[in-house]
Amino acid sequence: MTDRDILMPAPMADAVIAALDARFVLHRLWEQADPAAYLANVGPRIRGMAVSTLAGRVDAALFDALPALEIVANFGVGYDNIDAAAAATRGIVVTNTPGVLDEEVADLTIGLLLATLRRIPQADRHVRDGHWPDGPFPLSPTLRGRRIGLLGLGAIGKAVARRLEGFGVAIAYHGRTRQAGVAHDYHDSPVALAAACDVLIAIVPGGAATRHLVDAAVLAALGAEGVFINVARGSVVDQAALVAALRDGIIGGAGLDVFEDEPNVPHDLRAMSQVVLLPHIGSASRDTRAAMGQLVVDNLTSWFDGHGAVSPVSVPAGPR
Ligand code: NAP
Ligand code: 8YV
Repeated sequence: MTDRDILMPAPMADAVIAALDARFVLHRLWEQADPAAYLANVGPRIRGMAVSTLAGRVDAALFDALPALEIVANFGVGYDNIDAAAAATRGIVVTNTPGVLDEEVADLTIGLLLATLRRIPQADRHVRDGHWPDGPFPLSPTLRGRRIGLLGLGAIGKAVARRLEGFGVAIAYHGRTRQAGVAHDYHDSPVALAAACDVLIAIVPGGAATRHLVDAAVLAALGAEGVFINVARGSVVDQAALVAALRDGIIGGAGLDVFEDEPNVPHDLRAMSQVVLLPHIGSASRDTRAAMGQLVVDNLTSWFDGHGAVSPVSVPAGPR
């Protein structure tokens, strides 16, 4: 077993740690008094990594310190925390956790959409704070008759669309390509999608290619009754422009599960009554997180048993 050294930079679920401990030599970087010195010592032996967004950036500088690294198993379907092009250049396989969280994230997206439009958390606070006897809770906007724009119609976007069909609302989407066999209206830019909709739901990958895909122009196109829902990544929206759009009534409200600098959420957003803010819980049920953790373990086990990775991502190699 001594030639199967795995690095875990930040803590993961107990079940993942236990499963990896049973199969590999697991190096818990976060427990080391001097992580840099520890890495300098064990780095040349490390052949695999188990990471989550908590592990910080997994990039070329880290790969340089791990010359024997073969595989990085990510806890999450989004892997913008990893420089996958730099990994591919070095022949390092990156895996993620597709398939096991789509329905869970879609459920949460619908919950966040309804909570934002119908102001469910605000109504709950109205009751808890003892305001009900003072008068009724103010009437809310409605989902009825809304046109919903999906910015990203991938695995999760499609799971959201399936649910929305049951709500009887119009659905449209934008991605870089129009998808064959999809009946929903296609728009060739985020701004065109926003102009055609009253709700914009972002569910695209993070990273440089989608940075600030939702900017001031997109928010202006969404309009004063418009609602923005972000379950993608904080980097997908220009957060300063979003705060300004909410403050100035350019859009009507927002439901946000992800932020630019998690876990830090600007005071301006926290002070607003027309937003619903969640601490990145799209996939965060016990069952789904367990399934994601198992897929991390399965990827590493399968790889080191010589059967290849279970769910590798496909990314072209980047410049050296
Ligand atoms: P996916 O199946 O790969 O779908 C991604 C979609 O985004 C595709 O339809 C793709 O269409 C579109 N897209 C990609 N790059 C784009 C670009 N530059 N401009 C416009 N559209 C683009 O991914 P998924 O499994 O649905 O997950 C999507 C993302 O959701 C993840 O990467 C992650 O960041 C986020 N996520 C968040 C949570 C949470 O807890 N909030 C949980 C899971 C996932 P084209 O290829 O046609 O452009
Ligand atoms: C996870 C996610 O919470 O899968 C993703 O891309 O954003 C979430 O499911 C996150 O990756 C945990 O690190």
